[in-house]
Amino acid sequence: MTHVQRAATLAAVASALVVSLAWADIAAPRRAALSNLLVQDCGSCHGLTMRGGLGPALTPEALAGKPPVMLRDVILHGRPGTPMPPWQPFLTVEEAEWLVQVLINGLVP
Ligand code: HEC
Repeated sequence: MTHVQRAATLAAVASALVVSLAWADIAAPRRAALSNLLVQDCGSCHGLTMRGGLGPALTPEALAGKPPVMLRDVILHGRPGTPMPPWQPFLTVEEAEWLVQVLINGLVP
């Protein structure tokens, strides 16, 4: 690998890091509760398998290319003027980021 190629690879890795969120360190019981919330509450609008319903699909394919930070903010603050409610009263920032990771990695239980 030449220096130029190496620099390009590092730049690509760095930009990938900027747009992705780190997996939050959330305790197992809370992860179970969040998974339950995702299927029961989010699933009531987005579909039990996240393929869409009243709300749009939240599958990895549907979310591809959407900035994770934007998705996190939609979860926390909702989309005013749409049925998407704010979940900030129930979720920390880290928990919303964890849900985004579950969704974009297709790990919905
Ligand atoms: C009452 C119905 C409802 C519930 C419950 C709900 N959503 Fe939504 N959600 C929507 C709708 C409708 C939209 C699309 C809003 C719009 O038109 O932009 C949306 C949008 C989103 C988006 C943005 C998708 C995109 O492609 O931009 C995300 C992410 C999301 N919801 C996640 C969640 C999560 C996670 C939960 C549970 C914690 C949840 N939603 C619960 C209705 C709901």
